[in-house]
Amino acid sequence: MEKIRSEVEALREEIRYHNQQYHALDDPEISDAEYDRLFQRLTELEKQFPGLVTPDSPSRRIGAEPREAFSPVRHRVPMLSLGNGFRDQDIKDFDARLKRFLGDDSPVEYTVEPKIDGVALELVYENGRLTVGSTRGDGYVGEDITRNIKTILTVPLTLTKPKNGRPVPDLVEVRGEVYMEKEALEELNRTRLGQNLPPFANPRNAAAGSLRQLDPRITAKRPLNMFCYGVGQINGAPFDTYHEMMISIQQWGFRVNRPHIRICSTPGEVIECCRHLEEIRSQFPYEIDGAVIKVNQLNLQARLGEKSRSPRWALAYKFRPTRETTRIIKIDVQVGRTGALTPVAHLEPVEIGGVTVKRATLHNQDEIEKKDVRELDTVLVQRAGDVIPEVVQVVLSKRTGAERKFVMPTHCPVCGGDVAKREGEVVLRCPNPNCPAQVKESLKHFVSKGAMDIDGLGDKLTAQLIKEGLVREPADLYELQFDDFLGLDKIADKSADNLTEAIEKSKRTTLGRFIYALGIRHVGEHVAGILADHFRELKHLEGATEKELLAIDGIGPQIAESIVTYFSDRSNKEHCGRLLKAGIRFETMVHPVTGAVAGKTFVMTGSLSSMKRSEAKEQILRRGGRVSSSVSSSTDYLVAGEGPGSKFSEAEKKGVVILNGDEFLELLNTE
Ligand code: IVH
Repeated sequence: MEKIRSEVEALREEIRYHNQQYHALDDPEISDAEYDRLFQRLTELEKQFPGLVTPDSPSRRIGAEPREAFSPVRHRVPMLSLGNGFRDQDIKDFDARLKRFLGDDSPVEYTVEPKIDGVALELVYENGRLTVGSTRGDGYVGEDITRNIKTILTVPLTLTKPKNGRPVPDLVEVRGEVYMEKEALEELNRTRLGQNLPPFANPRNAAAGSLRQLDPRITAKRPLNMFCYGVGQINGAPFDTYHEMMISIQQWGFRVNRPHIRICSTPGEVIECCRHLEEIRSQFPYEIDGAVIKVNQLNLQARLGEKSRSPRWALAYKFRPTRETTRIIKIDVQVGRTGALTPVAHLEPVEIGGVTVKRATLHNQDEIEKKDVRELDTVLVQRAGDVIPEVVQVVLSKRTGAERKFVMPTHCPVCGGDVAKREGEVVLRCPNPNCPAQVKESLKHFVSKGAMDIDGLGDKLTAQLIKEGLVREPADLYELQFDDFLGLDKIADKSADNLTEAIEKSKRTTLGRFIYALGIRHVGEHVAGILADHFRELKHLEGATEKELLAIDGIGPQIAESIVTYFSDRSNKEHCGRLLKAGIRFETMVHPVTGAVAGKTFVMTGSLSSMKRSEAKEQILRRGGRVSSSVSSSTDYLVAGEGPGSKFSEAEKKGVVILNGDEFLELLNTE
């Protein structure tokens, strides 16, 4: 028992420390996942040994005590936290638990919506005017940050009286999450690094840090945004459901995440919705760390009430984390396709979002220095979507003194040549185009899915082809014979056959894929598509001047310069010539002049259930339409799938016709 008592005490101590770091100082040291584990262990032990529960345990408290710089505001209705769920079973248990509590057969409806990673706020409106805005604080008393909140453009200062709909109550407290979009955060962090300020580790800290400014002019400069998701005190305005209430709140002028609030009638549907949100999580322009499940009927919410910390009628279903804490075993350097030397941290393996991560990028020497990352450091590692895992931050409190600083080499670790920095760049490069590392990476890029899509040419095989001297540049691939493969290690007849076939098949491609495959710097899949659309033939692109390139929508000076430099290099031109001679042919697009799509400009956002985005794009191009990356006055249609981004509101503002997946398909088939 003593042992358990001291474990409980130690856990409380640790949680209090991290609460302070997270809530009061906006400077978390451990990942959210790790915090959740500590918290769960504490609540488990307290449940098992109720005698050990104390009123000041962090399990009984919400967040941290308010900071003193802002005056305290007592919430009329406490701002509670949410119970957490991590597995499907937790959702089933939640459903069973609340039905048991209700004790009758009332059919329960749920809403499911994204859980936004930001800071909770309360806005008080008296007679339609914003009077007080406050943080959650400890749940009962928050901080008065009215002056700062008033600088957020999406916070209404006065409410709108709807023409038809519920009138604005004389007193209404609206709650929601203030957050910063991912791109805005990156931009802010770049600026901060430039000013020698530490970057914000996540959107939550950025939002919290921006709101807690003593000078509202600083808050005003931060691109903050708000989604509303609930109310505190509200006079009159009796609603039947949460969903209806959100519709009214939106009519009064608040920003509500309406397209993403789904109504479900069974726990199975709830699970499905949560899974879907997790799948499309990386497509949101803002960070979401879970789904919030709420009972839709407000009378049932009232009957269910709350426990000490959280309501019985809601659950936060947390997604698998994208950040974890681990240790750097050593740092070494990789040489990429363009010769760039990238420092890579080799990690004690750690599972992040269901994938074991052993390596993370450190980007370049500047980043290492700014973050002060050293070998043997304990670090926060992030893996999101398909992006390469990266080291976000060092956990300084775990430093022992044994850590070693890392300095970038002066010679290429693969070919041994001197490395150099180009003017205006921070990356070091190996300038030797024949460096085996560059050759291998270029080949890997050339055969990759979005490029020539040659299946079966993996890492090992590519390395062997280079080692045996069979391939020096991509064009060599098209001269390989069946027997060449057979001569290699572990290649059977069948695979040699498949490979020969895959290489042959890749000869029929599109101009866009081919341009992308060339690996011209700054020319990704999207830009390659723009270039292909514009020039239609390789020879036109080859001969293009910077001026011509700059005139194309979506091509900036960096890209234009890179393209001209690429084609002014004789060996690159020769390489293109060799590829074409090998028999690479481009499927020419037939551009009809009639049909509903011809001549129209489309922008896509979110994911379509019926086809991949690249496929949708090809369909549009094939029918003589154009695809652009951003909404402008010349946009005709926005195709909005699941999880639309900021383009959606942009299109709404500009009055662009918005099509859902089905409407888009219909349009494609309209003569
Ligand atoms: S509803 C009774 N809905 O998550 C609590 N909260 O971990 C009602 N959050 O304190 C909260 N997105 O700061 C709700 N769509 C959403 C949310 C959301 C983010 C935050 C909020 C809350 C915390 C709980």
